[in-house]
Amino acid sequence: MKREILITSDGSSTIHLPDWNEQYHSKNGSINETYHVFIKSGLQQVAADKVAILEIGFGTGLNCFITYLEAQKEIDYVGVEAYPVTTEEVEKMNFIKVLKAEKEQDAFYKIHEVSWEEKQSLLMKKLPSSQWRWALLN
Ligand SMILES: C[S@@+](CC[C@H](N)C(=O)[O-])C[C@H]1O[C@@H](n2cnc3c(N)ncnc32)[C@H](O)[C@@H]1O
Repeated sequence: MKREILITSDGSSTIHLPDWNEQYHSKNGSINETYHVFIKSGLQQVAADKVAILEIGFGTGLNCFITYLEAQKEIDYVGVEAYPVTTEEVEKMNFIKVLKAEKEQDAFYKIHEVSWEEKQSLLMKKLPSSQWRWALLN
């Protein structure tokens, strides 16, 4: 299925499916949506020291990346995706620039380099004693 890159109203990119006239994120802002839904209504509502997250439809990895940026605790992250984005598409995503997260850009690319069906660890720079792990399943 054809996929195109679209810029949403907060300046952040998303993927548009012209055949279905659908986007991966809200046209009102990919990053805005992730903060509203995934972080403020999700991650920040969990009081436990550790949290396990299952994301069905991993897509661009935006929710995963912002979770990484915002995490103040150990995260066990599993992403499921049937139609993984390509390396070329990942490189076209402008999340690092819009988020001004250049210092953490390696984490964004590492997220997308994880082998499917393998659990890997990412040491958090902000919390050196804790581990942030994820697996991607397709
Ligand atoms: C609305 S988009 C969400 C994208 C993602 N959360 C992000 O931030 O980029 C839905 C995602 O679900 C994926 N998907 C669709 N059908 C699926 C299936 N049967 N199993 C797993 N993923 C699926 C799509 O490929 C797409 O990446």
